[in-house]
Amino acid sequence: NSIPVLTLDGPGGAGKGTVSMRLARQLGWHLLDSGALYRLVALAAIRHKVDLADEAHLAETAAALAVEFIATDEDLVQVMLEGEDVSQAIRTEAVGGAASQIAAFPQVRQALLERQRVFAQSPGLVCDGRDMGTVVFPSATLKIYLTASAEERALRRFRQLQEKGMDANISSLEQEIRDRDERDMNRAAAPLKAASDAIVLDSTDLDIDAVVNKIHELLKARG
Ligand code: C5P
Repeated sequence: NSIPVLTLDGPGGAGKGTVSMRLARQLGWHLLDSGALYRLVALAAIRHKVDLADEAHLAETAAALAVEFIATDEDLVQVMLEGEDVSQAIRTEAVGGAASQIAAFPQVRQALLERQRVFAQSPGLVCDGRDMGTVVFPSATLKIYLTASAEERALRRFRQLQEKGMDANISSLEQEIRDRDERDMNRAAAPLKAASDAIVLDSTDLDIDAVVNKIHELLKARG
């Protein structure tokens, strides 16, 4: 497989989403926000009243998911579920929490596996998530593990929500982030961890531009 793939894995709030979007745009590559897929399954399950503990039914929901990603000019991708724009609806903490709950089920992950792999198309793919480098694209060209302290990630999330005019409490955000890390890192199926051949970047004291530039340098070094 000669299509270049750049994977960005790491905990929520480390900046993977924004960094991936910028890189994809600058490189002219495709983009896969795999977290959005898990969030979409969670949202579809909530809407269709599927029991969030019913693995087989959730896997069916994942397999049948009618989604579409539409690139826009800004740092944004429009996410459509069953023809409806759910870009905002999938970003709530409630949907994020439900996503991390259902993401622990191997059958749900399996149902989304091939769906993710088809994103690897010419001229290249930038993808972000928890298991892009470890499971979905194990032979990726360059694997980045992007992390940041939980405090810093909570602060970023808080500012993001404020910008959107949404109300938030910083200490409960930090607690939610720690709970989600805990669940994502300790599950049996595709736990969050750096691939053995990933390059670890800590963005606690780096802004988006610095992270993006660093990754461009690393990509160039790979030829
Ligand atoms: O990255 P984001 O916060 O949108 O992901 C939501 C949840 O989906 C994560 O907490 C994680 O449990 C799950 N996820 C996953 N594997 C991925 C991407 C996301 O398990 N590749």
